[in-house]
Amino acid sequence: MFQRAVAGVFATLALSGVVCLPSAAAAGRIVGGTSAPAGAWPSIVALVAAGQAPSVGQFCGGTLIHSEWVLTAAHCITDPAGMVVPETSFDAVLGVTDLAADAGQRHTISQIVRHPGYVDGQFVNDAALLRLVIPAVLDPTVAVMDLVSPLRPDLWDAASPAEVAGWGNTSSTANVFVNALQNASISVISDATCSALMVDGITPDFSATSMLCAGVLAGGVDTCQGDSGGPLTVRDGLVRTLAGLTSWGIGCAAPNLSGVYTRLDAYRSFIFGPAGLNQSPPSTPLSVDAVLQDPQAVAVTWTAPPNGGRPITGYAVRTLQGGVTGSATVLPGASTSTTIAGLTPGGDFTFTVTAAHSAGASTPSDPAAPLVPQSTGPPIVTGEARRERTLGGASEWRYLTGQPVVFQWQRCDAVTSACSDIVGANGANLVLVQSDVGHRVRLRVTATNNKGSTLAESALTSVVVPPPPTSVSPPTISGISRVGVQLQATIGSWTDLDGATIGWQACDVSGTTCADIAGATGSAFVPQPAQVGERLRVVVTATNAAGVTTAMSDLTAPVAPLPISILDPDLAPPTIKQLGSSKVTQAANGVVTVRMRVKVTPGALLVVRVLDHRGSLRVLDHLTSRIGGRRATRVTPRRLSAVIDASGVAEIKVVFAGNNRNPRRIGRLALEASSRSRRGVLSPSFRTRF
Ligand code: ARG
Repeated sequence: MFQRAVAGVFATLALSGVVCLPSAAAAGRIVGGTSAPAGAWPSIVALVAAGQAPSVGQFCGGTLIHSEWVLTAAHCITDPAGMVVPETSFDAVLGVTDLAADAGQRHTISQIVRHPGYVDGQFVNDAALLRLVIPAVLDPTVAVMDLVSPLRPDLWDAASPAEVAGWGNTSSTANVFVNALQNASISVISDATCSALMVDGITPDFSATSMLCAGVLAGGVDTCQGDSGGPLTVRDGLVRTLAGLTSWGIGCAAPNLSGVYTRLDAYRSFIFGPAGLNQSPPSTPLSVDAVLQDPQAVAVTWTAPPNGGRPITGYAVRTLQGGVTGSATVLPGASTSTTIAGLTPGGDFTFTVTAAHSAGASTPSDPAAPLVPQSTGPPIVTGEARRERTLGGASEWRYLTGQPVVFQWQRCDAVTSACSDIVGANGANLVLVQSDVGHRVRLRVTATNNKGSTLAESALTSVVVPPPPTSVSPPTISGISRVGVQLQATIGSWTDLDGATIGWQACDVSGTTCADIAGATGSAFVPQPAQVGERLRVVVTATNAAGVTTAMSDLTAPVAPLPISILDPDLAPPTIKQLGSSKVTQAANGVVTVRMRVKVTPGALLVVRVLDHRGSLRVLDHLTSRIGGRRATRVTPRRLSAVIDASGVAEIKVVFAGNNRNPRRIGRLALEASSRSRRGVLSPSFRTRF
């Protein structure tokens, strides 16, 4: 099944177009590499078909990452049908440089863990773990290689140096397999460059989340067929660490193309998780503290946390200024302190510590500050000191380390400024309630960090006032809207009322034009004849210390005159009654004056009719009258009318010219006063003769 030939291991490689095309051209090395000195790659693993000599059966590379585990590419252990090959179908050969020597440790495989998200033919999640039946014997020729530190992502920044090794094809144009391990120095290629280049319509597009590009854009140096699964390494100091697995390419070593590698930083949880090494990232460093050494230097100390089953290989101490993460100092795994120097004196510096090994990095510690929190000024309280309004509090601090500041609102005596906590008022906002009215309020903020607590206090607010009065239900008018009938108004109901005044208004029928009724400011009001046909309302003006609110009643029905309509059978017709006796005088020129007082139902229409049975008076020309002190309306030649006001008493004075030719005839005249509704219901009339 396994052979060292182009596409000879798995046909999927040929289908995905990544194989190096065979041709008759001359051989190179890896492509463009050199033979590695013996022992230079003690962690490299040759995957060799079972029962075959390494020089014949090698088909992929791998890396020993643990005495029991080899990391390789998923496509190396996938058969043409996309299935994982049997564990027994190949061996892992450790500690070998020259395949022809058939040396090193040849291990059988007990377990293959292919990445569960591997997509065959697409090189997506191209990673697999192989478990050795018998743990490797570690010696100078067989060693475990660590994954690149999670604290050193800079090591695979674009253009960083990288190294590759393998026994794959050494030609970009033919099949030239050599037995001597080849290695080459290449460079990391940026994700942007790579995703622009690595498009051929057959292979997957380059994905920066799970793939890493490296190579030589000028061409000539590259991994090739047979190198898959082998290491792409970067140097952390002098130590080679594993950053990628040889995965795919378009041909090999062509200019302006790149080898594509499984980006191992994305696979730490697969490699170290329960299916693999079953190790976890370290926990957060403990007891992190920062101590001011001098104005520009701080000593940061910590205690090593539980390591997740693997020695901690490094700590990153990050400097935050004003809570914003700045530079990191990476220290070896044995460290428990460092001094950060070159700080700006008095700057708001805090420090976090992160622990890491190749399984991953811990969550950073909460920041540690060198000093207790310092408030940059008293807390500020914004908003109106008025019941139902919300006050907002804000404070600014230096040397906060992630612990939330604690707010406590206090209510203070308006005069003595003695304050006490408002129970439960611990939010950034305070809604003012009735018990705050008449008091002042302030905000206390306590900030705590690893060095201690600091209390800051706002200024006192002004005295909390109630809101202006609020109308809960509108003013009302009760009673029948009719001339002479008393209406009764209420102010409605209010909150926060100190005082209220009432004003009556008369409005047109539509209610759009209203005018105050002069003097009508009591709760009771009797509509006057002048308001007949108008609609009334009251306007209530409510006041307190905080302001003035007005509210209006509904409009009454249009004011009706009296007597009332016959449609109101309950109400009696108007009455009329003479008070005292009438006085009649006649002047020398024959002008007759008649005076009388009558009491009439208020609001009634009083009609005075001059009776002249003989028709001898020149009434038509001279009849004038005053009723109730007002000039009466002359309705017909012999009728005068006026509406009786609330007093119900009318002085009637009628002046007319007598018959100069025969003054004695005046004794035959009569005055009749009656009241009647517009509908003609007559009340008993009163008649005086003279
Ligand atoms: N998929 C190939 C293998 O199985 C590796 C191809 C690498 N190609 C490249 N141009 N770097 O060996």
